[in-house]
Amino acid sequence: MTKQEKLQLDTQTKVIISVKDLVVGFGTKIILDHLSLDVMRGEILGFIGPSGSGKSVLTRAILGLVPVREGMIDVLGQRLGDLSAAHLSQLERHFGVLFQQGALFSALTVKQNIQLPMREYLGISQTLMDELAYLKLELVGLPADAADKYPSELSGGMIKRAALARALSLDPDILFLDEPTSGLDPIGAGEFDDLIVTLKKTLGLTIFMVTHDLDSLYTACDRVAALGKGKIIEVGPLSELEASDDAWLQSYFHGKRARAVAGTQKSATH
Ligand SMILES: Nc1ncnc2c1ncn2[C@@H]1O[C@H](COP(=O)(O)OP(=O)(O)OP(=O)(O)O)[C@@H](O)[C@H]1O
Ligand SMILES: [Mg+2]
Repeated sequence: MTKQEKLQLDTQTKVIISVKDLVVGFGTKIILDHLSLDVMRGEILGFIGPSGSGKSVLTRAILGLVPVREGMIDVLGQRLGDLSAAHLSQLERHFGVLFQQGALFSALTVKQNIQLPMREYLGISQTLMDELAYLKLELVGLPADAADKYPSELSGGMIKRAALARALSLDPDILFLDEPTSGLDPIGAGEFDDLIVTLKKTLGLTIFMVTHDLDSLYTACDRVAALGKGKIIEVGPLSELEASDDAWLQSYFHGKRARAVAGTQKSATH
């Protein structure tokens, strides 16, 4: 395949991300140990697990940002390991990412942040980029006057929304969110969850969301996967995870800091 050849992506595939027997490690430390997981098109998959268990590492592996030792990752019908750098870059255009650390470039305005991926990939006029940036702002519920503000002039909630607008910059098929509601108050976090659900429905997105936030699992996620000891210990509807006899899941759902009943979630956030 030549560099210029266009990558043929299967955006209609039922299994939009398929991870099989994945091994990722750093030095002598194995983080993901023969992990397998499917993400279905159009779902919001919540991804939970203890701190340091490898949730961000798996996210970064799917994004092609960390080296894989064994196993395979198929995204939109393409096997990551088989792609040239040029094709990987074409595939990346279909991802929207909100990283756990560092949401926006502080030296750039919100508008410039949103336009950064457009500048890199699209080659369209400034006028068109401006129009698109305002559209993205509206999509995430930010006022137009946020466009010319710098991140330091925004609240935490507004920064998350602006970062989401940037993640949506290239109309992705898959959105990766790593702890999107951390640092937000419960009302702000609830509003963010509602926004994500709306975006999923209106834009037909598939969303992979790493979270510690129980409310997010209840309000936003279609299925939840739990990571432990390098593997997926459970994956399915929340009710199945709640009923799991795994010790970590038991204490996560039923321990001191867990909420007692799913039904109280909505009222707790609104
Ligand atoms: N580039 C790297 N080099 C070496 N070790 C790394 C690297 N990235 C991650 N790790 C290690 O991999 C392990 C898993 O990290 P990861 O960030 O995926 O955890 P996490 O599940 O996302 O945790 P948290 O919930 O705290 O965000 C940690 O021990 C971390 O130190
Ligand atoms: Mg993390």
